[in-house]
Amino acid sequence: MANILSVSCKTIQAPVCRKNSSAGKRSCHDDAFSCSNEVTGGSSGIGKSLAILAVKRGAKVTIVARNKDRLVEAQNDISSHGAKEQVQIVSVDLSADFEEVQKSFNKAESTFGHIQFLINCAGSSIPGRFEELPISTFQKMMDINYMSAVHATRAVIAGMKSRCEGRIVFVSSQAGQLGLYGYTSYSASKFALRGLAEALQMEISPYNIRLTLAFPPDTNTPGFAEEQKGKPEETKLISETSGLFSPEKVAQTILDDTVRGRFFSSIGLDGWMLANVTCGFSPSTSVMEVMQQSLTMGLFRIVSIFYLYHFDKTVKECKLRRNAESKNR
Ligand SMILES: NC(=O)c1ccc[n+]([C@@H]2O[C@H](COP(=O)([O-])OP(=O)(O)OC[C@H]3O[C@@H](n4cnc5c(N)ncnc54)[C@H](OP(=O)(O)O)[C@@H]3O)[C@@H](O)[C@H]2O)c1
Repeated sequence: MANILSVSCKTIQAPVCRKNSSAGKRSCHDDAFSCSNEVTGGSSGIGKSLAILAVKRGAKVTIVARNKDRLVEAQNDISSHGAKEQVQIVSVDLSADFEEVQKSFNKAESTFGHIQFLINCAGSSIPGRFEELPISTFQKMMDINYMSAVHATRAVIAGMKSRCEGRIVFVSSQAGQLGLYGYTSYSASKFALRGLAEALQMEISPYNIRLTLAFPPDTNTPGFAEEQKGKPEETKLISETSGLFSPEKVAQTILDDTVRGRFFSSIGLDGWMLANVTCGFSPSTSVMEVMQQSLTMGLFRIVSIFYLYHFDKTVKECKLRRNAESKNR
């Protein structure tokens, strides 16, 4: 079981670690999901699918969210893929008070052992036109999508550094790669995760800790169903072009990319194109990846112009239709 694998780096005190410092012992990096996992947002959607995959691999999983009833329901569902003792729940608002988050994570570690794998999946989207969204929504999006990840990561990072081992995932969004109509508050909070991820990766790589930044497309989850209710027509039409994916497929891709130690995790053809065209100064994972980015970036920039033309045309057509409808009234 997972915690047997969590013994490796305990005795290492040096501030800068050697790669594979667990020398000879099997470590988290050999099978990233087989350790003690903490999945924020694990009571629903993508987070729940990730928790199921981790349990299937024998990991001990702590799922974190606010609503206790939904957590208990998810715990039963998730543990049906493994054993009851593999899943524990933590109810805390990750966006609110860091001390509370730290306390609840410490408690989780006291029963399941060190957190070696943190998946920051808690988040939500409130779409709407910029001037129609309450100002408080902009703060709320930053709190839920950005500060939750800051709090959770801060709660585990010292432990990971002292053990020279750990994996961290930030679940951003395709809306964290390009700004789209109706996503002024959401996109900004997901773009913020990228800045955090790039800077943090540079700080933690000497400690043998890897970070993966995932950019899911539209995914068929309870959160997506809720988001659909408030989406402007333009946002629906534009985001539909990438298709709708299942949470199982998205979770599997995030898992595979994380196990391979990739910095970016993208899903689908559009996702792959976006990851290449927006790679910028991001950390590189392999020579192959850098060559692929260098060769495709120029071409994909040209392709992006066609997409942008189509999106702008959609926005104009929606405006013209609304104008015509209001004249006919
Ligand atoms: N679904 C999509 O189309 C899509 C696309 C791109 C990116 N994403 C991103 O993927 C992640 C998961 O999305 P999803 O669609 O699976 O969402 P979901 O079904 O709504 O699940 C969200 C989870 O986050 C938890 N959560 C929300 N706010 C929290 C807070 N303040 N503190 C603790 N837990 C909190 C929720 O539980 P409680 O409400 O009980 O706290 C729930 O477990 C999000 O970050 C989302 O932005 C989703």
